[in-house]
Amino acid sequence: MATRAAAGAAVTGAAVVALLSAGFALYGPPLDAVLERAFWLNKAHSIKDMETTFQLVRNIIPPLTTKKHKGQDGRIGVVGGCQEYTGAPYFAAISALKVGADLSHVFCTREAAPVIKSYSPELIVHPVLDSPNAVQDVGKWLPRLHALVVGPGLGRDHVLLSTVKGILEVSRARDVPVIIDADGLWLIAQQPALIQGYQKAVLTPNHMEFSRLSEAVLGDPVDSSDPQEAVLRLSQALGNVTVVRKGERDVISDGKQVLECSQEGSSRRCGGQGDLLSGSLGVLVHWALLAGPEKTNGFSPLLVAAFGACSLTRQCSRQAFQKHGRSTTTTDMIAEVGPAFTSLFET
Ligand SMILES: *[C@@H]1O[C@H](CO)[C@@H](O)[C@H](O)[C@H]1NC(C)=O
Repeated sequence: MATRAAAGAAVTGAAVVALLSAGFALYGPPLDAVLERAFWLNKAHSIKDMETTFQLVRNIIPPLTTKKHKGQDGRIGVVGGCQEYTGAPYFAAISALKVGADLSHVFCTREAAPVIKSYSPELIVHPVLDSPNAVQDVGKWLPRLHALVVGPGLGRDHVLLSTVKGILEVSRARDVPVIIDADGLWLIAQQPALIQGYQKAVLTPNHMEFSRLSEAVLGDPVDSSDPQEAVLRLSQALGNVTVVRKGERDVISDGKQVLECSQEGSSRRCGGQGDLLSGSLGVLVHWALLAGPEKTNGFSPLLVAAFGACSLTRQCSRQAFQKHGRSTTTTDMIAEVGPAFTSLFET
C-alpha cells in the first residue's frame, strides 16, 4: 500500500519520499506545491502501513450493543435490477446486510422484483424503477436511507438511465452518499456533471469503466504506466470525488491522497465481485461519515471506507478460493463476509 498527497494543480516542488506515518503528520495544512509520496521501501514498511490503515477502518466500525434500535447501523438502498440482470443487485444488497447493515432495499424494475425477492426473504424489494413516478417513488425513501448504491444490474435502457439521473439529482440535493458502479458509471461517463464536485460520491470503476470515464472527463487516453497518478487525476478532474479503480491492486483517491489496497485476493474473476464491493462500501461509507475525520486520523472518511471495502472483498475472495478453488463463485465469497470481516477488523 502506498499513499500520496498532492496539493493544487501547480505541482512544482520536489518529490518528498516519506512513510505513510509521516504522511499523516504532514497532511492537513495546505501542502502547496509539494508532491509527497510514500513508496514501498521494503516489505516490513508496507506491512506496517497496511496495518495502520486497517486500524483506521477498525476505528469507524460501530460497536454492537443491545442499546441500538433497528436501522441505526445502516439502511442501504440499491438502485438496479432489470429483466436481464437480477443477480447483481441481489449480491450488492445482501453483502450490505452481511457486513452489518440493518436493512437493505432494492429499487428495481417491475419484472425483476419477484425474481430478486425469491432469492432472499431478507431484502426489501421495490418494483418501481420503470414506473412513470420512479424518481418520486425512490425519492420518498431517501430520508430513511444512509447510502445509495447505484448501478448493479441496471442495464443501459435509456429510459431507466434518465430515471437514474433524476435519482442521482435528488440524492445529491438531500446529501445522501452514493456509490456508483457498473452501468451507473456508463451514465456518469455521458454526464459527469451529475456527480461533479459531489463530496459524498464514490465511483468504483473496473479497468474498462475507468478508461471510459477518464476519456470522457479528461479527454485523453489513460497513462497506464502510472495508475496512481491516473486515479488521482480523474478524482481531481471530477472535483475530488472519491474514485476506486479495481484491479490487480485497487487504487483509491479522493483527489488529495492515494491509497493502494493489495490485500491478497484470488485469481478468480467471476462476475459479481464488484457487487460485493459496492454493497459493502455502502455500509462502510455510512459508518465512516458517522465516525468523522477525527476517527480516521485526518484521512477522508470515504477513502478509509473504500480501503475497508476493497480489503474485505479481497479477503472474501481469498477465503472462498481456499475452499472451492476454480469453482469459486460470488455466492461462495459472500458466505465468507462474516469470517473475513472478523479476521481483518475484529482481531
Ligand atoms: C481538490 O483537492 C486539491 C488538493 O487538496 C485542491 O487543491 C483542490 O482545490 C480540490 N478541488 C476541489 C474542487 O475541491
